[in-house]
Amino acid sequence: MMLPVIEQSGFDMGLAPMEGVTDLPFRLWMSSLTDISFLSTPFLRTTKDFPKSELPSDFIPDQTSRGVVPYRLVPQIMTDSAESFIRNGKRILEGFDFVDFNCGCPSPHAVGGGAGSSLLADPKYLRSLLVSFLEALGPHRVSVKIRTGFQLNSELNDIFEQIYDLPLARLTIHGRSRVQKYDGLARWELIDGVAAHSEFPVYGSGDITSLSSLEERLPYCRHIAGMIIGRGALRNPFVFEELRKRQAYRFPLHMLGTILVSLGLLYELKFRDKNTILTLLEEGTFKDSFGTDISKWLSLQSKILQLSDTISLDPDGVPELSRAAFGRVKMIWNYLRSSFPKEFFAPTILRSATMGQFLKQLNEIGSNHKMVTLSHKPDLDWIYTSRKKQPSALNDEYR
Ligand SMILES: Cc1cc2nc3c(=O)[nH]c(=O)nc-3n(C[C@H](O)[C@H](O)[C@H](O)COP(=O)(O)O)c2cc1C
Repeated sequence: MMLPVIEQSGFDMGLAPMEGVTDLPFRLWMSSLTDISFLSTPFLRTTKDFPKSELPSDFIPDQTSRGVVPYRLVPQIMTDSAESFIRNGKRILEGFDFVDFNCGCPSPHAVGGGAGSSLLADPKYLRSLLVSFLEALGPHRVSVKIRTGFQLNSELNDIFEQIYDLPLARLTIHGRSRVQKYDGLARWELIDGVAAHSEFPVYGSGDITSLSSLEERLPYCRHIAGMIIGRGALRNPFVFEELRKRQAYRFPLHMLGTILVSLGLLYELKFRDKNTILTLLEEGTFKDSFGTDISKWLSLQSKILQLSDTISLDPDGVPELSRAAFGRVKMIWNYLRSSFPKEFFAPTILRSATMGQFLKQLNEIGSNHKMVTLSHKPDLDWIYTSRKKQPSALNDEYR
């Protein structure tokens, strides 16, 4: 089967919103590594009283209107309060084309508080909320992200019937119900069915991890405008490149330590020196991707070390990261290692106590390689799911 020529046909691909992951340091790191058309913030949980005045400073400083980053940003709000969405939406729209409404979060906390996917249980109420948002903020200035239903996948038609005539900027559908959480496989045929009747762009979400995973779903990508990739991009940040160029990405191994140290430094700034990360942003440091130009990564590192007096070096010249920042490096490496050749999956690297130890382990294991091909390994999927079974084995449980 032929792949659509993704870029020429305007098939748009971006990084999915991920709470606890797609914060500012991660966004800057991802977009410095590889070209991505748009990136998403995690949800900002707002309430009637929060935030009252300013938005949190690290929520959306990478606004495209300032031209400081090479990507479009999709900012997202999750709330049970219409007044709060409109109040904070107005602030966000000073720098953005549209603001996304989270109606997909399955967590008991969100659902118990009347936010996230709980809104899917009452499609008429969801419609009334969206109508009030669009009236207050303007047509095409609100997008919405949903799941296929609250209980059942078959609820998607009722939800769509309530919203199909609204002037939404975009509808993104994660092809699972709330009950499924992340179990089973995303139902792309349902997403495409809705997209076929939609006047606004519909984006699909769920289980795109590689070229072959996209190829399997191509029959169900006939009407969608694009897709977002979440967990697949954590395991292989170059998956966007793989889909664009239709071949697996070859990665120069001597870069690995450098890009991970850079990630750690960006997190160090988030936790200990927010002003420096904002200065770097405003100076245009992240205006273009660095890709595999190691001199650009090293220059980022020395700029950070120069500007911030909170980071010291160990005797080998490796930054001494705080537990919080190093924890983030290990979290990302835990995903990433699954796409590298199998010896990199060894738990020894993850057990390192410092960035210096981590690099030593990495160099030891990588000493035989120059270039490695990054590839998604479906046989490791179970490690990253809550149910320790292959997703396809669970699909019959969900309608
Ligand atoms: C750790 C994690 C955090 C997430 N946080 C959000 C979020 O803040 N907002 C949202 O709309 N979806 C969130 N999602 C859902 C993803 O955006 C996406 O729809 C889902 O993971 C399916 O896509 P994937 O298979 O490509 O990961 C999150 C998913 C994960 C794994």
